[in-house]
Amino acid sequence: MSETGFVFTTDNKVRMLSSEIEVNDKLSSILGEKFIEYRKKFNAASNFELRTEFPLYMQIELNQICNLRCPMCSITIPKARQKYITEERMNWNTYEKIILEGEKYGCPSMNPQGTNEPLLDPKFEDYIKFASKHGFIDITMNTNATLLSEERSKKILESGLTRLRFSLDAATKETYEKIRVGAKFEPVMKNIERFLEIKQRGGYKLPIIGVNFCKMKTNEHEVDQFIEMWKDKVDLVAIQNFIAPELESDYTDFIPTDSEYNENMKKSFRCEQPWQRVYIKSNGEVCPCCVFFNEEVSLGNIQEHTIHELWNGSKMKTLQDLHKDGRYYDNPVCLNCVKCTTGVKDDSQLINIKK
Ligand SMILES: C[S@@+](CC[C@H](N)C(=O)[O-])C[C@H]1O[C@@H](n2cnc3c(N)ncnc32)[C@H](O)[C@@H]1O
Ligand code: SF4
Ligand code: SF4
Repeated sequence: MSETGFVFTTDNKVRMLSSEIEVNDKLSSILGEKFIEYRKKFNAASNFELRTEFPLYMQIELNQICNLRCPMCSITIPKARQKYITEERMNWNTYEKIILEGEKYGCPSMNPQGTNEPLLDPKFEDYIKFASKHGFIDITMNTNATLLSEERSKKILESGLTRLRFSLDAATKETYEKIRVGAKFEPVMKNIERFLEIKQRGGYKLPIIGVNFCKMKTNEHEVDQFIEMWKDKVDLVAIQNFIAPELESDYTDFIPTDSEYNENMKKSFRCEQPWQRVYIKSNGEVCPCCVFFNEEVSLGNIQEHTIHELWNGSKMKTLQDLHKDGRYYDNPVCLNCVKCTTGVKDDSQLINIKK
């Protein structure tokens, strides 16, 4: 992987080392014309220039179950858990209905992982295979890699997955075990090494592999070490911005001391997510973005509406227009999303906000 510095990507709130362009070039050479066409559309939508008939990306959350308790995640934080984590699981019929609707409108990309650990479901690879069989060309997921056995590694490599990210958040055992509570550093590193070996030995071109680092006060001192550790081993090193798990509490203690992303967000902000995607929660709520509190801007429920109806409805159109025009502050949830994520308490600290 060559070093091209940090760039903003179409995956909101994420910055990468090695430009996303490089990764997409690699995927274009493997997946061909269809992939290139879809990325063109995705980029145009992300620039607020293309309003599509159907979302270009669907994140489908099957359940909200996890084996770890990372301190920054809504799985762990009591207030976020109480508000946004439910026992409800999505059944296969609902999943199938969503995938088939996506196929009907030529939806090109999806992710079947939500606020959960996907590999806890022994049949998780079947969900990927089903989407792959039904026309989705770009299928992505994150995992904590604690359950990435040899057998699961082989199944994933055969599933049709195009992008896989290991969430690690640390370069040392000490910091890793403080953040990834419930996981052990050495076995997880071994799982990843074995996965990379099996991938290489088997001559698999896909999935593209990334490692993820959610940058916070507790780990920001390890960013450089993390990049050094992984830059020659994987396709992508992602340094992700911390996002508030809910909107009522003060998360200043989590926010890193230097965040270029947050500084830019305070100056001006246009959220590209409602132009790209929907996130369908395990309870069926169809949301226009992937933040933990996305239910606050829910468009409606999959049990009562089709995705096409919700995507083309007035609620979505209003949200899209608002972000195209840079008027995030006209939606109270979006305003709070910016404030909680940047740690801003007073609106006057937001440079372009309407006075
Ligand atoms: C919610 S997890 C679900 C998948 C899997 N359990 C994992 O950890 O990769 C998806 C991603 O969200 C990230 N994440 C968790 N809490 C976050 C927060 N408060 N802000 C930004 N990213 C967060 C994780 O590090 C992970 O990369
Ligand atoms: S492993 Fe993933 S879902 Fe589980 S607590 Fe950590 S970040 Fe959240
Ligand atoms: S709450 Fe608004 S600003 Fe925040 S991610 Fe969702 S759509 Fe974007």
